[in-house]
Amino acid sequence: MIRSVVIGCGAYLPENIVTNADLEKTVDTSDEWIIQRTGIKQRHIAGEGETTADLGEKAARAALANAGVEIADIDLIILATSTPDNTFPATAVEIQHRLGMKHGAAFDMQAVCSGFVFALTTADLYIRGGQAHKVLVIGAETFSRILDWEDRTTCVLFGDGAGAVVLEAQEGVGLTADRGILSSHLRSDGSHKSKLFVDGGPSSTGTVGHLRMQGREVFKHAVGMITDVIVAAFDATGLNADTIDWFVPHQANKRIIDASARKLKIPPEKVVITVDQHGNTSAASIPLALAQAVADGRINQGDIILLEAMGGGFTWGSVLLRW
Ligand code: ACO
Repeated sequence: MIRSVVIGCGAYLPENIVTNADLEKTVDTSDEWIIQRTGIKQRHIAGEGETTADLGEKAARAALANAGVEIADIDLIILATSTPDNTFPATAVEIQHRLGMKHGAAFDMQAVCSGFVFALTTADLYIRGGQAHKVLVIGAETFSRILDWEDRTTCVLFGDGAGAVVLEAQEGVGLTADRGILSSHLRSDGSHKSKLFVDGGPSSTGTVGHLRMQGREVFKHAVGMITDVIVAAFDATGLNADTIDWFVPHQANKRIIDASARKLKIPPEKVVITVDQHGNTSAASIPLALAQAVADGRINQGDIILLEAMGGGFTWGSVLLRW
């Protein structure tokens, strides 16, 4: 059977770093409160004029170089983002153009913080359906542009950045010994819209809007939803907390990650954490964390990696793969 194997990854973070101490000067907050409630110490914020396409392009180039693949070999680009440069066209198409790709197709995918897991699953289906051989999957966000910088309950939580992976069709035998994506499970439930949304949009207000969140409500649902899709991944593959090598969760909040790992009996030394350095970069957080753990030598070929995300919608999902 065909498997979608990650053959390279890359990331990009804007140069400008905003620490908790910097935020203390603009809103009524403290380094101590932010670290205790979220684990976040700093976040990167895009410079003036620096857009999602800029970040996504740099991450994409890094992933292509890491994979040793030319853009001519890519059949499809999927960009997970909730902060596109324009209402249309898709930012993926702008990145496709900048990379010099004239063939194939590119489109955006919108599942907020779960976007990368949704995009990876979609890419896997294109590859296993024989519609694409090599797919570039990018998660890129400039969440700083949709934050209300006067609202201390949200503005301290998010950051900007981008990460990308290249997937390639390879032959497998259908067992978990295969490299590539072994299972994926996606879910959504629109009844939770009011708990986490942006209060603007082209067809409602004609404005971009700002992120609004009932943080405690999101927190209440997060651990249950995360464990739901991870248990589904374990049931589908026969793998478990002991047999995975790395848990790379969406980086929203250290307390949510710790509580999920505890419930699933995944030991802390198997959990990749970047939320302290990046904040919540939405669809970019998982590929950013993957790129970091590959660069520092933790993730190696053959490792079993568990990805998970939960975000606005609500949307949530898991992907289990062998690197
Ligand atoms: N600094 C100081 N005090 C603050 C801040 C801040 N930045 N923000 C809120 N507070 C205050 C509140 O006003 C409140 O004060 P009060 O008791 O006087 O009313 C107090 O701190 C406690 O507020 P809570 O909201 O109850 O704090 P909580 O412990 O729930 O932590 C947090 C808030 C961090 C937002 C938490 O609820 C959380 O992480 N929720 C999940 C968020 C999340 O994961 N979102 C993912 C979104 S992904 C996506 O799709 C975009």
